[in-house]
Amino acid sequence: MIDIMTRNMNRYVICITGASGAGLGFRVLKEMIKGHEVHLVVSTQAFDILRHESGIEISGATPEEVCQKALGYTGPGELHCWDNRDLSAPIASGSFEVAGTLVVPCSMKSLAGIAAGYADNLTGRAADVAIKEGRPLLLAPREMPFSAIHLENMLKLARLGVVIAPPVPALYHQPKSIDELYDFLAGKVLDAMGIKHDLFTRWGATGTF
Ligand SMILES: Cc1cc2nc3c(=O)[nH]c(=O)nc-3n(C[C@H](O)[C@H](O)[C@H](O)COP(=O)(O)O)c2cc1C
Repeated sequence: MIDIMTRNMNRYVICITGASGAGLGFRVLKEMIKGHEVHLVVSTQAFDILRHESGIEISGATPEEVCQKALGYTGPGELHCWDNRDLSAPIASGSFEVAGTLVVPCSMKSLAGIAAGYADNLTGRAADVAIKEGRPLLLAPREMPFSAIHLENMLKLARLGVVIAPPVPALYHQPKSIDELYDFLAGKVLDAMGIKHDLFTRWGATGTF
């Protein structure tokens, strides 16, 4: 049962849109679900990309199935899954209080919609709500290269206080696999939202140099 009456600083929204690296969104989700109430929105295109890139099929899955299939997670936490077309979902309203909203990864189409305030799906609406309510919002835009349109959209949002965190990997932690790359990127996303995690060793912690 969702508690709709109290301000909930333990409640987050994560939207996974149809950019390459949908698996990164699930890596972030797997950390967030540990001890948080998380509301998940996956776009139609993200379902397809997840199937293509990671071999995971979760279209129409229940929260329990998402945890098992996409996250391999059975621990504590509370997951709610919403259809991207469901503009009546609680997270479509500013009166449903959340601590933060993340769009990871964020397609250029979703970025453009958010920058324009064009909230024709639940992802766009949840982001629009975060901006209008002055709540933390992070976007992880993924494209290569970025056009001037993409960059202008990002700049517009950054000036409104939106965290623009493109999934640009670092190599100083010497990743050996895509999983290790995802761990680093997911950790940086969580850092930017002030969510504790244990996904990578911090620079200076081991005295490497
Ligand atoms: C395999 C695949 C990879 C894609 N990767 C990207 C990407 O990295 N960035 C992007 O902006 N769009 C990408 N697209 C295009 C988006 O999926 C498309 O613009 C879609 O309308 C996004 O809708 P959504 O934001 O509602 O998920 C990709 C499409 C496919 C099929």
